[in-house]
Amino acid sequence: MPKSTKNILYNQLIIGSLLVFFAIYNLVLYKNGSFVKKQVLSETAIMGQQIWQDNNCTACHQFYGLGGYLGPDLTNVISDTTKGEIYIRNIINAGVKAMPKYHFSEQEINQLIAYFKAIDQTGYFPNRKVKESNYGWVDVVLKDSIR
Ligand code: HEC
Repeated sequence: MPKSTKNILYNQLIIGSLLVFFAIYNLVLYKNGSFVKKQVLSETAIMGQQIWQDNNCTACHQFYGLGGYLGPDLTNVISDTTKGEIYIRNIINAGVKAMPKYHFSEQEINQLIAYFKAIDQTGYFPNRKVKESNYGWVDVVLKDSIR
């Protein structure tokens, strides 16, 4: 066999095994999907989200710092021990300061509360509980994993 043919075969072998290695690497890394932490909203929470959107609450409120700034951030409002669920339930229809007076039914308020609880489970804002690995991955610690 001429030397150049040998070189080509050798190169093909190297490239081939690199491709196989790459495929196996990707299979191992992505097959179980463990790198994505899924949060699924319950049906009640989805109704709450709809109310949130229909009434444009985000014009004044933020989740994770994103939204309007007339009202406070509500990411963890439901687990804020200085406030509590009863306070949240009452303020929604109260009409205080710049917060409009809404007329939600008991059921709609339940749905909003379920939505707040679901958002609260996704993490902290501001988040001081992030773990960084040496490889540059950032592991966000979900609330229910430390409770
Ligand atoms: C026009 C602006 C505005 C809109 C729209 C608005 N809010 Fe508010 N909201 C405020 C303000 C201002 C406060 C703070 C009131 C206070 O502390 O007295 C507040 C307070 C709150 C609080 C209590 C937060 C805390 O930390 O004390 C909750 C819960 C809340 N709003 C929910 C909602 C929901 C749900 C909607 C939509 C249905 C909504 N808000 C729409 C302005 C708004």
